Amino acid sequence: MQRQHRDPFVKQAQRSDYRSRAVFKLIEVDEKDNLFRPGQLVVDLGAAPGSWSQYAAKKTGKQGRVIAVDILPMDNIKGVSFIQGDFREQEVLDACLSALGGNRADLVISDMAPNISGIKSSDQTRSVHLAELARDLALEVLQPGGDILVKLFQGEGVDEFRKSLQEHFPRIISRNPQASRESSREFYLLGRDYRP
Ligand SMILES: C[S@@+](CC[C@H](N)C(=O)[O-])C[C@H]1O[C@@H](n2cnc3c(N)ncnc32)[C@H](O)[C@@H]1O
Repeated sequence: MQRQHRDPFVKQAQRSDYRSRAVFKLIEVDEKDNLFRPGQLVVDLGAAPGSWSQYAAKKTGKQGRVIAVDILPMDNIKGVSFIQGDFREQEVLDACLSALGGNRADLVISDMAPNISGIKSSDQTRSVHLAELARDLALEVLQPGGDILVKLFQGEGVDEFRKSLQEHFPRIISRNPQASRESSREFYLLGRDYRP
């Protein structure tokens, strides 16, 4: 509670229309790497409460579209189609593919993180697994030249994951946004310029 109280990003989010401080991580990456363009089709995994989707909808504009997925419910956002469900389940992946309607995405962003159990090795395995599912979706739906941004936690499995991205994304960039809490091992990998 005290940490929340002192956190400048929490205060900034409260003063803005954004639903979560998480948006400042995405904004920081976007300001460095120019992820978004008007008219893009974006898939946002682990979207609730919705600040990344709000930002993506704003940046992609009226011609753009965002498909968002989360286990938790999420209030409506204009320009965002929301699917509630566990992305580890086939039927949720199918719902996502059906929302895409055969169109190829320009960008897949995943801020998915498992509920932390406190057992470090199992938390790490579950987090890398979520990143792998985001990667697999990206490989299935991205158009050539598309990008993926995925959350990870430093630890076991990350090097292998990075190597697996390198097979299809010639440019891999690692980002540690300031808005990621100092105590956290969280970082983001950005894979650019998808080559099927
Ligand atoms: C850090 S929060 C995302 C914050 C979000 N980017 C925002 O800007 O509001 C991580 C989210 O991942 C979701 N999540 C975790 N595991 C998931 C799964 N298997 N399927 C779908 N969503 C999942 C959680 O429910 C949680 O809402």
